[in-house]
Amino acid sequence: MHVPGPLSSKWTAYLGLLSALSAAFAPAVAVKEHDFKKCHQSGFCSRNRAFADHALASSSWQSPYNIAPESGSFRDGQYKGVILKTINDNGETVRLPITISFLESGTARVTVDEEKRQKGEIELRHGSKARKERYNEAERWVIVGGTTLDKAAKVDYEDKSQLTVKYGPSAKFEATIKFFPFSIDFKRDGSSQIKLNDQGLLNIEHWRPKVEKPAPEKKEGESDEENKTEETKEEPKAENESTWWDETFGGNTDTKPRGPESVALDISFVGYEHVYGIPSHASPLSLKQTRGGDGNYQEPYRLYNADVFEYILDSPMTLYGSIPFMQAHRKDSAVGVFWLNAAETWVDITKGKDYKNPLSLGTKSKTSTHTHWISESGLLDVFVFLGPTPKDLTAKYGELTGTTAMPQEFSLGYHQCRWNYVSDDDVKDVDRKMDKFKMPYDVIWLDIEYTDEKKYFTWDKHSFTDPIGMGKQLDSHGRKLVTIIDPHIKNVDNYPVVAELKSKDLAVKNKDGNIFEGWCWPGSSHWIDAFSPAAREWWASLFKYDAFKGTMENTWIWNDMNEPSVFNGPETTMPKDNLHAGNWEHRDVHNLNGMTFQNATYHALTSRKPGELRRPFVLTRAFFAGSQRVGAMWTGDNQAAWDHLAASIPMVLSQGIAGFPFAGADVGGFFGNPEKELLTRWYQAGAFYPFFRGHAHIDARRREPYLVGEPYTTIIAAALRLRYSLLPSWYTAFRHAHIDGTPIVKPMFYTHPSEEAGFAVDDQFFVGNTGLLAKPVTEKDKTTVDVWIPDAEVYYDYFTYYIIPTAKGKNVTLDAPMEKVPLLMRGGHVFARRDVPRRSSALMKWDDYTLVVAVGRDGRKAEGDLYVDDGDSYQYQSGQYIHRRFIFDGAAKSLSSVDAEGREPGSVAEGEWLKRMRGVGVDRIVLVGVPESWVGKKSVKVESEGNVWEAKMEVTPAAEGRAAFAVVRKVGVRIGADWRVVF
Ligand code: GLC
Repeated sequence: MHVPGPLSSKWTAYLGLLSALSAAFAPAVAVKEHDFKKCHQSGFCSRNRAFADHALASSSWQSPYNIAPESGSFRDGQYKGVILKTINDNGETVRLPITISFLESGTARVTVDEEKRQKGEIELRHGSKARKERYNEAERWVIVGGTTLDKAAKVDYEDKSQLTVKYGPSAKFEATIKFFPFSIDFKRDGSSQIKLNDQGLLNIEHWRPKVEKPAPEKKEGESDEENKTEETKEEPKAENESTWWDETFGGNTDTKPRGPESVALDISFVGYEHVYGIPSHASPLSLKQTRGGDGNYQEPYRLYNADVFEYILDSPMTLYGSIPFMQAHRKDSAVGVFWLNAAETWVDITKGKDYKNPLSLGTKSKTSTHTHWISESGLLDVFVFLGPTPKDLTAKYGELTGTTAMPQEFSLGYHQCRWNYVSDDDVKDVDRKMDKFKMPYDVIWLDIEYTDEKKYFTWDKHSFTDPIGMGKQLDSHGRKLVTIIDPHIKNVDNYPVVAELKSKDLAVKNKDGNIFEGWCWPGSSHWIDAFSPAAREWWASLFKYDAFKGTMENTWIWNDMNEPSVFNGPETTMPKDNLHAGNWEHRDVHNLNGMTFQNATYHALTSRKPGELRRPFVLTRAFFAGSQRVGAMWTGDNQAAWDHLAASIPMVLSQGIAGFPFAGADVGGFFGNPEKELLTRWYQAGAFYPFFRGHAHIDARRREPYLVGEPYTTIIAAALRLRYSLLPSWYTAFRHAHIDGTPIVKPMFYTHPSEEAGFAVDDQFFVGNTGLLAKPVTEKDKTTVDVWIPDAEVYYDYFTYYIIPTAKGKNVTLDAPMEKVPLLMRGGHVFARRDVPRRSSALMKWDDYTLVVAVGRDGRKAEGDLYVDDGDSYQYQSGQYIHRRFIFDGAAKSLSSVDAEGREPGSVAEGEWLKRMRGVGVDRIVLVGVPESWVGKKSVKVESEGNVWEAKMEVTPAAEGRAAFAVVRKVGVRIGADWRVVF
């Protein structure tokens, strides 16, 4: 790990603040690994790990959780019963109501609650006002569909000890619920895929009153695991209660008014060697084992949104956002789980052949993956997906949590950011220089310094004197401005925003029910409680054009620090015993916090002016399952280092397979100063992030891409133009993500689920359905890359049309000199570009298209699609879009364009945008890999809208490894019309 020597400015600012105000707490100097908890420093994590150790070590272990058979009933796709947890040798039990829902989508859901807490029959300590129930509102934030019960689900077998339900498409899925002890075995086509509590690690810490007794002695540095006692029938006897009640870390004490309440469960993926998902971690796409051993982690993957700036790589440590969705994959099969819990969560992963029931393994299955999910509080609520393809998983998960919102088209362009552009003149100057150096870009960003002393919704009076003038200059080239608005509101006099926050009682409260005060960029601050409907409504009022003066139609918003980051809080965030709307403890909702804030901003931007119906753009740092519906994310404060560039690719891929694909990393690296080669390579890689933004820390030297000098400036300009020419294909990929949750950049296991050698490949990816295979260079001084070839298709070099000498399943070494980003075209695809270089995406809106046909190996078929709409409004929802499918038929020697959704011409009344698109056509068709027999042909026949004409074609014969290719010019067809070109 590289930790820069001097204090980062964030902390210098913070320390300055501290000394100035002589605050009473001890400051952390820089965020390092030890400033964040390890499992043994988290009471509930170490208790559950100890529980697992105990259970797995004992051959006689029996889970103390049994379903009371007489309690159960199955009706209309749902099983309801009660789990009895035996809590002592006297056979005393605790009642845990369980609901197992079989959904029409084929997804199953298992929810376990605790009767005593449901009924509010518990006592809170310290006179707390917190809710007595387990947190049960996560689904209100997260789930948006797909919960209709499958009335066709049927009990297939039942006796006193178990029940089997058949469900899902053609009743191919089944769940066997065992009662003694409770477990569920999910099967597809008769074979086990996912098992719950098969290892007996289910643990729901029931409510109990605190009995005052002297705490057992624990030596400093000793973990609870080490403190463990001998085996007992249930939990280890003489439990170490030291972490049940109050818990202290880094000088902060959590008062835990409800006592211990964690929920944990083992989930086994039978015969699955790879698991993916649960972002965000700076770790490989295929997740590592976490219980030690060669090359494995010692720590579970942690999900607890935190401001972990200067994060370390190859680590299961938590980062800024969490999505508790995991896919498991083996040859030709994918299954998954979604653990709907917004509290701090840890996930242990082990893989092994030591499966307890080897007979239940399929013949080919060798290794299974066992996962152990541990959350601090809330319900046990888990969704089970039985695939069988990765695409099925992302679609079903998308049905539940929603898909990527259709973005503002500009947001797929390049974003120029730094902390900070210092004045409106500075912004205008950068804007002009980008033009001067012919570097397209769409958005320039303002970080916190634009404000009047970190008071959001204000401008610094000295440096941003004319924000409207600045906005207008940007607008004259179709460009936008994004300003940062964070959730901490400066606690000072004469600031109407904080005055209203207080007087309307809309802020997060501390454990005593008083307004919570903490430290962030502005110094003393309060936090808007975006869980409160009234707070969200008030938030919306702040963004109206006449309230946030200086903003205009081309201003959009960046939400940062929404984990939330609290500089003097435990682990740089809020105390867990803080209270939100409805008196839910922060502990229960922590991982949802960022999403509620982004959501509030998103909705605010929909109501800036009556009648303005435009898709908001909001970037967030913290996120949860569902955040994909309201914007984009980035991977936080990375470093200007080669390994951070490399790490960004699996991180972005992981976002995609976890349903939040609008993702990117700070291009150039946030901290530090990238050398020129690194900056250039980063632009080449960033041109393939779904979210493409250059950003830099306030202490970093200026690095707008035109400053870097030749030859790098020209190379970076080329990378930017490559991105811009492919924008139509990127937008089409977003459309697919919006429709069915497909990732925008796709890892090999996703596109080639049968090719085992590709399951751990995470440094190359396909872009949408284009067949474009990118492998950015992420190492210093590298001039070649090895690309893994997943199939027997033909692959062409994107730039030269050379046929790559490939073999399925083998690596091929490609030249990758500085000026080149390795990019291949897979045969069999058609994709769209706009080739005229312009300053911004808005200026390309009415440009004609180039279609590229990469002819497939058999020379017969290639297919692809293009989706276009106005890129701004919601008119697409009423059919105001163009979606074409292009089919190249080698046998018939034709390329045709048909409506991709089978809509009849004229079936949609054309609004303004569609009318204007009548003037937009296909200018060029480039066909790569055409047969030699085409050489010498000079023209093609074009048929469209009842007319037939000829267009010129030039065919270049194959030479020295380069494929023969043809270029048809001035095709003359409308992009929105049906047409056919015959070669
Ligand atoms: C946080 C963000 C970073 C931003 C800075 C100042 O560190 O992650 O992107 O520049 O705050 O707002």
